[in-house]
Amino acid sequence: MKITIVGTGYVGLVTGACLAEIGNDVFCLDVDPRKIDVLNSGGVPIHEPGLKEIIDRSRAAGRLTFSTDVVASIAHGDVQFIAVGTPPSEDGSADLNYVLAAARDIGRHMNGFKIIVDKSTVPVGTAQHVRDTISQELGRRGMRQEFSVVSNPEFLKEGAAVDDFMRPDRIVIGSDSDEAGQRARDMMKRLYAPFNRNHDRTLHMDVRSAEFTKYAANAMLATRISFMNELANLADSVGADIEAVRRGIGSDPRIGYDFLYAGAGYGGSCFPKDVRALIQTGAEYGRTLRILDAVEAVNDAQKQVLIEKITHRFGEDLTGRSFAVWGLAFKPNTDDMREAPSRTLIAALLQRGASVKAYDPVAIDAARGAFALDLKDDPAAHSRLAFVKNQHDALPGADALLIVTEWKAFKSPDFTALKVALNAPIVFDGRNLYEPAVMADLGFEYHTIGRSL
Ligand code: UGA
Repeated sequence: MKITIVGTGYVGLVTGACLAEIGNDVFCLDVDPRKIDVLNSGGVPIHEPGLKEIIDRSRAAGRLTFSTDVVASIAHGDVQFIAVGTPPSEDGSADLNYVLAAARDIGRHMNGFKIIVDKSTVPVGTAQHVRDTISQELGRRGMRQEFSVVSNPEFLKEGAAVDDFMRPDRIVIGSDSDEAGQRARDMMKRLYAPFNRNHDRTLHMDVRSAEFTKYAANAMLATRISFMNELANLADSVGADIEAVRRGIGSDPRIGYDFLYAGAGYGGSCFPKDVRALIQTGAEYGRTLRILDAVEAVNDAQKQVLIEKITHRFGEDLTGRSFAVWGLAFKPNTDDMREAPSRTLIAALLQRGASVKAYDPVAIDAARGAFALDLKDDPAAHSRLAFVKNQHDALPGADALLIVTEWKAFKSPDFTALKVALNAPIVFDGRNLYEPAVMADLGFEYHTIGRSL
């Protein structure tokens, strides 16, 4: 099929590359010429396992084109994916300006029946805005052209996005029941047929329910995390082990084991933004989403838990103290620093007078940018932050090691070398990577999230 993807950000690029990988002819359009230049010269602007390989393969086969040419790109695809950003507005609602600009471009240049697919995470009712925007543009051109708007939310996880796209749990397709909608539904079914393993994984529903499903999924997952974080803090108080509790409840198939890990709080570009956007949608309809208000409040507090444990141990004034930090990205296998708990923690340490040496396997460049922004008003604090190229280099002279992201390379370190390098054998682990009993045997003072028996 001929496909156009508007927006070569995270979602757009993965979608375009994966659809090209299975033989579709894909145009990826972006307004940013620098991004398109990078892609056209063989680079990939984001870190995502497996993505470069499939981009290179499809480009070499002539199935994947990157372009800033709006007219040619929109003429190309029978299916037009809108995969542009929906950043949060000041009130937490999703800003739809980019989505509607893409819809205007499509309306201005479309030249036959098109299926317009909302792939960006957009609030309930957005498909209707997209439809109205396209109709307006067609009206301006004096054209009567049929089209249909479909909602097809993505459920990709950063760090596993290619695999998630290629082997989806489910493919949600929201379409209208009119004739154009049925045509769109059939085409979407065909487009996604190669991704069905064992059984048909497409879930067809109305457009609004599809839009809602995306927010409901992320809100549910964020709720599980905040729930476990709250229980972990209580476990610390009562002297229980949250990891044993996780296994104890996860064995109930109605609960399941996944997404029950207590930690330093959830971050990234999706959960914080989508929880806020759903709260905001509730407010627009006069409904307070009390559970989600609490989910967000618990998460904000959870990002402070490590600093609270550190100040409890070392005192409020950390002047002259030095800390090693392992892990900066909001989770492993990505360089994404958006809403990463490391940002809250490191800023708090620096502002209390401490020095920090930080290491991350891939996020150091992104982290430099993030901290330059976060600490722009406090150059003295900023000057006490250094990045190191090797995880061991963060340790010498540090009063404690702090673990914020659960990269695989941190799971089994040389504990003897660790002990020798640190000023004192103290570890604050925001991801519960080690067994407390083993750490005690090794002579470490080991602070966890919810495992302080
Ligand atoms: C999330 C969803 O998992 C995807 O299904 C969804 O498509 C995506 O958002 C999106 O809306 O685009 P992602 O943000 O990439 O994916 O990352 P997750 O793996 O879900 O992790 C989110 C945060 O939760 C991370 O900070 C992680 O450390 C934290 N987390 C996750 C926990 O603290 N505990 C857990 O048990 C699981």
